[in-house]
Order: sequence, then C-alpha cells, then structure tokens
Amino acid sequence: MSIKFQYHSQKWIQESDLPEDWFELISNGFSKLAPFFYEASVTDSIDKKVNEAVDRDIINLINKGELRDILDVGVGDGTRLARIGRNISEDYGWGRLYGTDISEKMLQKARDKNIYVIKSDMREPLPFKPASLDMILYISGDFGFIMDKDVSKANRLRLNAIDSAYSILKEEGILYMEVICGDHLGYDKDGKVVHYLRRTLSDGKEVSELSDPFYAKSFTFSEMEGLLRKSKFNIENTHVKYMLRKLNWTSEDSSKSGEIVAQYPCFRNFNIKDIYPNLEDPMNVPNYRTIISIKKII
Ligand SMILES: C[S@@+](CC[C@H](N)C(=O)[O-])C[C@H]1O[C@@H](n2cnc3c(N)ncnc32)[C@H](O)[C@@H]1O
Repeated sequence: MSIKFQYHSQKWIQESDLPEDWFELISNGFSKLAPFFYEASVTDSIDKKVNEAVDRDIINLINKGELRDILDVGVGDGTRLARIGRNISEDYGWGRLYGTDISEKMLQKARDKNIYVIKSDMREPLPFKPASLDMILYISGDFGFIMDKDVSKANRLRLNAIDSAYSILKEEGILYMEVICGDHLGYDKDGKVVHYLRRTLSDGKEVSELSDPFYAKSFTFSEMEGLLRKSKFNIENTHVKYMLRKLNWTSEDSSKSGEIVAQYPCFRNFNIKDIYPNLEDPMNVPNYRTIISIKKII
C-alpha cells in the first residue's frame, strides 16, 4: 500500500473565523494519520527537500554551538528530530532528544525512536525545568498551531509560549522557529490562517477518513518582530531567513524549493521586494517559510 498526501486547495481566513471545532479537527486528524505520517511525508518531494534543507541548517547550528539537549514542540512521529539527532557530532558528549505532542499515537512512534516524549498542548507552558534545554524547535510551521478565535487571547498564548521557551533554555540556547510566511501574500501587519484541504491517497484512491481539513497560522515579518520584541528575548540576538517552498501552489516545478532567498541579521532592513519583486497577484506567488533563530543571552 502506498500512501500519499495531496494538498489540493488552500484558502486564507481570519483567525477569528476559525470553526468552533478547529482544535479537534487538527488533533484528531494527526492522530488518525500517525501510522502513515512518515510514508506520506517522504512521498511529497517538495516537503522532503524543504525539510532536509531546514534540518541541515539546524544541525549546523547545533554542531557550531555545541548544543546537546534538543526539544521539538509538536514532535509528530519524531522522524525529523531523530534524523537531526543522528547528525549531531559526538565530540562534545551526548545529549537527549525530547518531544511534546498532543497525539498519543504520534508520541508512541517518537518513543520508538528513542525520543523522550511528554504529552503536552503547545498552548500551555512547556513542561521542563528552567534552564534545562539547549535548543527548542517549532518546525514544519508548528508554531502556527497556537491559535484562538479570540485574537487577543491568541496573541497572549503565543507570547507565553515564547517566554516559556526563554525560561527553559540554558544561557546561549536557541529558539528556532520555521513559520509559514504571510508577507508574500500582501498582509502588511498580521498573517492569516491557512485552511488546507488535504487529500490522502492510497494506491491512487482517496482515503476519505484521512482526508481532513486543517488549519495553521501564517506570520508576517512585522508580527513576529512585534511578538519577539514583547518577549523576554533580546531581539538583537535574532537571525531571520526566508526559504522558498515551491514555485506556486499547483506547479510541479519545485526545483528551487529549499533555497534561502534572503536573510537578515536581527529584524533590520526588511524589504518584501527583496524576496518577491512582483506582488500584483498575491494568490499566485511562491510560498515561503520564515526561519527565525534567536539566542538566549542574559
Ligand atoms: C506537521 S506535524 C510536525 C511534526 C514534526 N515537528 C516535524 O516537523 O516533522 C505537527 C504535529 O503537531 C502536533 N500538534 C498540533 N497541535 C498541537 C498542540 N496544540 N499541542 C501539541 N502538539 C500539537 C500534531 O499532533 C502533529 O503531530
């Protein structure tokens, strides 16, 4: 049996217009997908290329900073974290890989890969001791699962999550976030929520019980800057990169996926035209990920 994801449509909605059951849709959807998640992820060559490029970036930071104890928030089945772990240089001793998730079924898969797992909702404070971790990851756009229909509450939850990460990082530890970029869609201040309709195919036939809609928030540059400015981190210690994900939503041409198209030390000199010179047709533009790494310097 060969399982494949197809993201055949997306639309952008306001966070306040999320359906009442958005959280159940996401958590049940991922639980049902857990047995097939690895196989379906690697059949998508675009996801695979982008994920590998991000993972290489993470591994470089880990080896350069001699980081050891790493947490992936929303770890899923742990495939990516385990791969990152396999590439950590052993020269500076061993560390531990940790993962949190809401799906027991995903956590079981991650546990089988020797990841220490804790069931925890990312809208709550992270369940770790102060100054105990070297790196905290929100990859695959997972920070965008912190949402609420009450937008001021949502912003509070996101700020609390960043401050919680600050508290549990050791000095010189890194918070690393790969979020869905909202800038290229012409949103000048806040991003919107992308509503995906995902089809899951098995041997070419749609598996209807696995073909769920799901939601994830995108973020503009100014929105992330605003959040980090309000947080306990010092924004001067940020590095921002833009990565191209695919050329457009329907195109098969993924040749540039995974390329870094612009980078900024801190949040200075940002100009959307640097990364996309033609914004006339915002719904038919490339899809970007924004990668933010910020160091805890006391
Ligand atoms: C797209 S998968 C990513 C897995 C992994 N980080 C990776 O990059 O391969 C997202 C994971 O986030 C989890 N998740 C979604 N909402 C969550 C929440 N509120 N708290 C904790 N985990 C959540 C899902 O159960 C799912 O396993």
